[in-house]
Amino acid sequence: MNLFTPRKLLTKKYLRRNTLKVLGIETSCDETSAAVYDGKKILSNVIFSQVDTHKVYGGVVPEIAAREHLNRLPAVVDEALSKAGAGLKEIGGIAVTYGPGLAGPLIVGVSYAKALAYASGKKFTGVNHLEGHLLSPFLENKDFKFPFAGIVVSGGHTNIYIAKDFGSYDLMASTRDDAAGEAFDKAAKMLGLPYPGGPEVSKAALKGNDKKIVFPQAQMKDNSMDFSFSGLKTSVLYYIQRNQGKIKSGQVTIEDIAAAFQKTIIRTIVKKTSRVLKDSGIKTLAITGGVAANISLKEELKKFAMERKIGFYAPSNLLCTDNGAMIAYVGYERIKRGLLSGMNLEAQPDLKI
Ligand code: KG4
Ligand code: ZN
Repeated sequence: MNLFTPRKLLTKKYLRRNTLKVLGIETSCDETSAAVYDGKKILSNVIFSQVDTHKVYGGVVPEIAAREHLNRLPAVVDEALSKAGAGLKEIGGIAVTYGPGLAGPLIVGVSYAKALAYASGKKFTGVNHLEGHLLSPFLENKDFKFPFAGIVVSGGHTNIYIAKDFGSYDLMASTRDDAAGEAFDKAAKMLGLPYPGGPEVSKAALKGNDKKIVFPQAQMKDNSMDFSFSGLKTSVLYYIQRNQGKIKSGQVTIEDIAAAFQKTIIRTIVKKTSRVLKDSGIKTLAITGGVAANISLKEELKKFAMERKIGFYAPSNLLCTDNGAMIAYVGYERIKRGLLSGMNLEAQPDLKI
């Protein structure tokens, strides 16, 4: 049953007269976040990271993450509203991530957002987390436009899309096994670096020599565009096992291995991106998602794009990793178009675009 009747498009005239403020809620993994976006700017973006809670386990524990979201979300939402200088009264709509992500954490966010929307009578919409990442460059760049090629590199995804318009996305490449972020996290574990692995490996890589070791890049037999990073992970493992002497003597350092590993990931991403851009003739490129916070990856892609006169966009670090602002942005665009969800919206851990 859909308890919300309005499937009415908000007209340009209405939006000119009344600012639509949307509250975005994100709880798909280990960041509890809420933000307010008004169609022009981010009024607040509060992110509570659960990293310290999960660090001792070496990775996110879904059950603990769900409980932590439950504990933190009300205060995070209150803070987002107060930082935006808005009470719930001034909020026009509520948006929430309903997938993909971890089931328990998603259920907490979706249930909370539904209850809040129902009790306050606000417009309500479910947002695809991947669409949030993909469209996040719109939050900071006035000149960013469709169509563009968008790379979403996160803990769970390594996808390249051609984004033709709002809601119209073609998936050109995805991973067949590990996602880029997952590969970073697993490599970090093998190298004895703490969780979360991505930032630690990238820090270590900056101090290493990336020419000492050459790890193989996965080649797809069927000439497919897809990524595969599990072979690289195994190569790193074997290298560490077989070169204990060199590592102990300092002939090869953890930093060198991290640098060679990171270089392989970056080269693979650049290569596939190059093919998508060439085949499509698209002249705008964006990289988003947690792994987009990697400085070397950003620099390499920027260099690649500049050499080819392709516009390049990457969100600031706070908007690369999970955040409520990107959910509020997509929520705003959905509500504006009358794309509302009912109280029957359910968390969808395997949601795709
Ligand atoms: O987008 P995100 O915050 O959450 C998901 O939707 O998965 O991405 C988290 C992933 C983690 O795997 C983390 O290790 C990785 O992004 N990450 C990085 C960096 N910062 C975060 N990977 C490489 N270099 C970084 N600087
Ligand atoms: Zn994410």
